[in-house]
Amino acid sequence: MAGNTFGTSLAVTTFGESHGPAIGCIIAGCPPGIPLAEGDFDADLQRRATGRTRHTSQRHEEDRVEILSGVFEGLTTGTPISLLIRNTDARSKDYTKIAQCFRPGHADFTYWRKYGIRDPRGGGRSSARETTVRVAAGVIAKRFLQRQFGTVVRACLRQVGPIRAQLTDWQAVESTPLFWPEPETQAQLESYLDGLRKAGDSIGALVEVEASPVPVGLGEPVYGKLDSELAAALMSINAVKAVEIGDGMAVVEQRGSEHRDEIGTQGFSSNHSGGVLGGISSGQPVVARMALKPTSSILVPGNTLNVAGEAVEVVTKGRHDPCVGIRAIPIAEAMMALVLADQVLRHRAQNADVADPGPKLSGEAQLRAPSVD
Ligand SMILES: Cc1cc2nc3c(=O)[nH]c(=O)nc-3n(C[C@H](O)[C@H](O)[C@H](O)COP(=O)(O)O)c2cc1C
Repeated sequence: MAGNTFGTSLAVTTFGESHGPAIGCIIAGCPPGIPLAEGDFDADLQRRATGRTRHTSQRHEEDRVEILSGVFEGLTTGTPISLLIRNTDARSKDYTKIAQCFRPGHADFTYWRKYGIRDPRGGGRSSARETTVRVAAGVIAKRFLQRQFGTVVRACLRQVGPIRAQLTDWQAVESTPLFWPEPETQAQLESYLDGLRKAGDSIGALVEVEASPVPVGLGEPVYGKLDSELAAALMSINAVKAVEIGDGMAVVEQRGSEHRDEIGTQGFSSNHSGGVLGGISSGQPVVARMALKPTSSILVPGNTLNVAGEAVEVVTKGRHDPCVGIRAIPIAEAMMALVLADQVLRHRAQNADVADPGPKLSGEAQLRAPSVD
């Protein structure tokens, strides 16, 4: 199976299945001199973990990262960093009933038809368990961006089914394991999710992710545009069916006079572009949204086929996420951080000697040489 690597100068390759002994990744191209310890991964892995609320799967993985290479005396060495996370709470017997049939809406049918064999335990490679190591790799990318430019990458839920939230207070987002930015509608969301769980059904979600400050100049037109790479990175997350940058689909109804971000001596007057112009970061916050589908592992019976081609009814028992958008928050952050860090290194490779002609806008983050603690 090819297609397990993304990134160019900072390249991440992941491996492992949901119910195999372990999952892991190799991060190639990470700059040397970044402080890194095994405990540094804990906070983001906990944010992605199951079982933090009654509204996520009750699988309880320890998610302890082992650093196998690439770090010496607490600093990255510039050599490939290998991270390993052992699976400790896999219950494969939950899957014996569905091993012979294809869950509608899941990857069972396509994996079977493409490879002629599949690991049905927890969805095997198609499980979002794989995203755990993306989050771990993202911790390193976030740290790199933070040290270089003070960049913070953060995400939150903006919509679950019919319930929408305004994003006015980033602090509210981290005060709840639902990553919900609007305290006034939190109770409504909880009761909606309770009803959904009782019905044994699932629901879609909209996640917004933002990086700020981001320096001007990241992105390689035309096939390595920052926005196209962000879209690909976010779309590669399980269950994501749509990605928007900036105003996204809303541009359809906008006029040029509304959409353009006018430039004054104090900088841009708005950010309809989502921080990307011509595939290159403009120095504004980079803003993207992704829509996640309602997942297929539900208790509502559905029609499907078994591997013999016979019509059967399927009900997915076991431990599943009724709204995967909740746990996708740190995954979205990780993918955005990895794309930006990769583009920083690519920018340096070609443009380190370019004299910036300005004009510099207020609050702009500057590209600068890495500092070693
Ligand atoms: C954090 C997260 C958790 C997920 N958990 C489940 C789950 O419990 N049950 C399920 O059917 N799908 C779950 N998914 C979605 C499946 O992995 C995904 O739908 C499946 O691999 C098919 O891929 P596709 O939806 O991208 O086409 C999850 C996705 C994410 C991002």
